[in-house]
Amino acid sequence: MIVMSTAALAASMLIRASAAEKLTTFRYQMVKNYSGPSFYQNFDFFSETDPSNSFAKYVDLTTANDSGFAGYTVSPDWPYPVYLGVDYKTITPTGRPSVRLEGRDTFNHSLIVADIRHMPYGCGTWPAFWLLGQGLKWPKAGEIDIVEGINNQSNNTMVLHVDSGVSVANLTSAYNGNTQMAGTITNLDCSLDSAGSTGCAAKASWNNYGAGYNAQGGGVVVTEFTSRAITIWSFPRNNTPQDILDGKPNPHPLYNGSHWGAPEAKFVPSINSSFDEHFFNLKPIFNTAFCGPWIDEGWNTSECASLAPTCTEYVANNPAVFEGAYWAIGGLQVYVPSTTSNVGPAGYNTTVVQPISSYNKKRRGQLTDFKAY
Ligand SMILES: *[C@@H]1O[C@H](CO)[C@@H](O)[C@H](O)[C@H]1NC(C)=O
Ligand SMILES: *[C@@H]1O[C@H](CO)[C@@H](O)[C@H](O)[C@H]1NC(C)=O
Ligand SMILES: *[C@@H]1O[C@H](CO)[C@@H](O)[C@H](O)[C@H]1NC(C)=O
Ligand SMILES: *[C@@H]1O[C@H](CO)[C@@H](O)[C@H](O)[C@H]1NC(C)=O
Ligand SMILES: *[C@@H]1O[C@H](CO)[C@@H](O)[C@H](O)[C@H]1NC(C)=O
Ligand SMILES: *[C@@H]1O[C@H](CO)[C@@H](O)[C@H](O)[C@H]1NC(C)=O
Ligand SMILES: *[C@@H]1O[C@H](CO)[C@@H](O)[C@H](O)[C@H]1NC(C)=O
Ligand SMILES: *[C@@H]1O[C@H](CO)[C@@H](O)[C@H](O)[C@H]1NC(C)=O
Ligand SMILES: *[C@@H]1O[C@H](CO)[C@@H](O)[C@H](O)[C@H]1NC(C)=O
Ligand SMILES: *[C@@H]1O[C@H](CO)[C@@H](O)[C@H](O)[C@H]1NC(C)=O
Repeated sequence: MIVMSTAALAASMLIRASAAEKLTTFRYQMVKNYSGPSFYQNFDFFSETDPSNSFAKYVDLTTANDSGFAGYTVSPDWPYPVYLGVDYKTITPTGRPSVRLEGRDTFNHSLIVADIRHMPYGCGTWPAFWLLGQGLKWPKAGEIDIVEGINNQSNNTMVLHVDSGVSVANLTSAYNGNTQMAGTITNLDCSLDSAGSTGCAAKASWNNYGAGYNAQGGGVVVTEFTSRAITIWSFPRNNTPQDILDGKPNPHPLYNGSHWGAPEAKFVPSINSSFDEHFFNLKPIFNTAFCGPWIDEGWNTSECASLAPTCTEYVANNPAVFEGAYWAIGGLQVYVPSTTSNVGPAGYNTTVVQPISSYNKKRRGQLTDFKAY
């Protein structure tokens, strides 16, 4: 038996008590809830020439609303999913009309929860849900690509872009059925200065992109940005942690690993540096691009090559195939760290939510708030 002096015992209890207090006072607090009727009031329609050099022609709010490219759709189990589609009726030799929505607010350290019920897919498409740093020339304020891919890809690609001086560790090999990451890091250098604009990247471990993702009702994607890590979880529709569904997300109960399981990507700087100087004033963006450098370079060797000699010819001449190239978004919530409220970590229960059966009947631009925007 170890004999401890009264003073030492008191000191050790003090340490434990203050540690416990620290553990129970950290939580995420919701600061924005973009969903339902108010969604469009917090986003702008970007309608300039696509800075990503794609074959998309982004339209403004009035055109999007009048043409039925943006509005709401019908879901049997969710009120007013946001619908962001494209022109699927017209032959468009100079670029296919589409939408790019940019959030009005910007964030630093945060936890961003996106409920995605359907996403664009198919040959020629290049959709993305991403965070773009504001205030400096790209990519000096950083870019975090949360959901991105091309053509008939089936696993999501996650990418970070910074100006210079950041590489990430490869935590893939550290994955041992544990909490590091389930996806695979495919490129370590996040900087524009050395390897062109590829960015550091990770490929998801499951079919959380495109047709397969949509068939099971999509899911919930959570991005956490701290000084030391940018972490992306991707939950299937039927397996989203209860604390997230309850609006009390807590990836680090008691600072002791995660009850959410392994994230798809965990980017940490490979040297002891902070992400804070590289990512700030981040705003959320949803867009659907077509063709562009990523697709064009690989078109002739892609699964889509036999459809047309080039991506732009395919996209220009085959409007009908793009009826499925739409986002249906249940909502987007932004949480920021809070140490002011004495609320303990959220519990963790798994619930089963029924997959969406169909999005056949599209209702667009009809909600009062959208009209009033
Ligand atoms: C790509 O996906 C679309 C939609 O599921 C499908 O119609 C098409 O056949 C696929 N194309 C290829 C080349 O796999
Ligand atoms: C990271 O590690 C995984 C597993 O060992 C490996 O498959 C992958 O190629 C590595 N990525 C890079 C960029 O080295
Ligand atoms: C894509 O997901 C499947 C499981 O659906 C997995 O078997 C495969 O390894 C993943 N691909 C990559 C490149 O990680
Ligand atoms: C966000 O707002 C919608 C109503 O627009 C509400 O139904 C939903 O519960 C809210 N989400 C959270 C996490 O509070
Ligand atoms: C932290 O994790 C360890 C190892 O899984 C476990 O034994 C311990 O009970 C956990 N602590 C808390 C407070 O959950
Ligand atoms: C990393 O940097 C932080 C803050 O600058 C410091 O507290 C910590 O001790 C450093 N860790 C290592 C292993 O150098
Ligand atoms: C985010 O960080 C930038 C750069 O440090 C700072 O200018 C800005 O005020 C911060 N925004 C918030 C909401 O804290
Ligand atoms: C792909 O093939 C077409 C002809 O089928 C050709 O016109 C085009 O230049 C090729 N593209 C690339 C990037 O090689
Ligand atoms: C989790 O489930 C258990 C058993 O159903 C229940 O007692 C508990 O209240 C639930 N916790 C939360 C946070 O919902
Ligand atoms: C959107 O379209 C509806 C008709 O479908 C119209 O009543 C409404 O004023 C339009 N809103 C805007 C902002 O153009």
